[in-house]
Amino acid sequence: MSGVHVIDHPLVQHKLNTMRRKDASTNTFRRLVEELSALMAYEVLRDIPLHEVQIETPLETMTGQLIDGKKLVFVSILRAGNGILDGMLSVVPSARVGHIGIYRDPKTLVAVEYYFKVPKDLQERDVVVVDPMLATGHTAIAAVDRLKECAPRSIKFVCLLTCPEGLAAMQEAHPDVPVYAAAVDRELNEHGYIVPGLGDAGDRIFGT
Ligand code: URA
Repeated sequence: MSGVHVIDHPLVQHKLNTMRRKDASTNTFRRLVEELSALMAYEVLRDIPLHEVQIETPLETMTGQLIDGKKLVFVSILRAGNGILDGMLSVVPSARVGHIGIYRDPKTLVAVEYYFKVPKDLQERDVVVVDPMLATGHTAIAAVDRLKECAPRSIKFVCLLTCPEGLAAMQEAHPDVPVYAAAVDRELNEHGYIVPGLGDAGDRIFGT
C-alpha cells in the first residue's frame, strides 16, 4: 500500500479530540471539521504540481510558482464528505468538485450507489476523495472502484478517523491509493462504528 499518513500535528490532534466530545454542539463540530480539513489539506497537497509564471511585483518582474486548481478535484462522498470538502475548498477555492452518493445498507453494511457526478477529463486531474470515517472500508472502496473507471491521474483518500479494519480493507482493494487520516482508532464495533471514534459524522455535522 502507498501507506497511511497520520497527520499528527498538535493543532490537528487538538481539533479532532475536541470534536470527539459528545457534548460538542453541531455548530462547534461542523466548524472544527472544516478547520481540521483545511489543516490536513496542507499535508495532503504537499506534492501537487506547481507551474512557473511571470509575476509583476510593484518593484520588478519575477518568476514564481502557482498551482493549477483546475487540475485538482475534491470528490465528496455524500453526505458527510461535504464537511471536509468545505474545509479543503477554503484553502483551494479554484479546485473542481465531484460528488458520489453511496450509503451503507444498515443491515448488510454493503455500499449502495445512488449518485455519481464528477468533472470530465479526470485523466488529466488529481483526485482527492473525502469522507470523514474510513470504517468498514466498503463505501471508500466502492467510491474508488467507480472513480478508477474514469482513470484519473492520481487518487488519494482523506478521512478524519479510521481503524485497522478499514485500513486493511483499503490496502487489499486499492494498494495504490494513499490514505490520510488525523488518527487511527482502536477498532470497529459490531455496528460498523469506529471506537472510540466520534459517533455518526454525518449526523454530527448536519445536526440530524
Ligand atoms: N460512519 C460514521 O459516521 N461513524 C463511524 O464510526 C463509522 C462510520
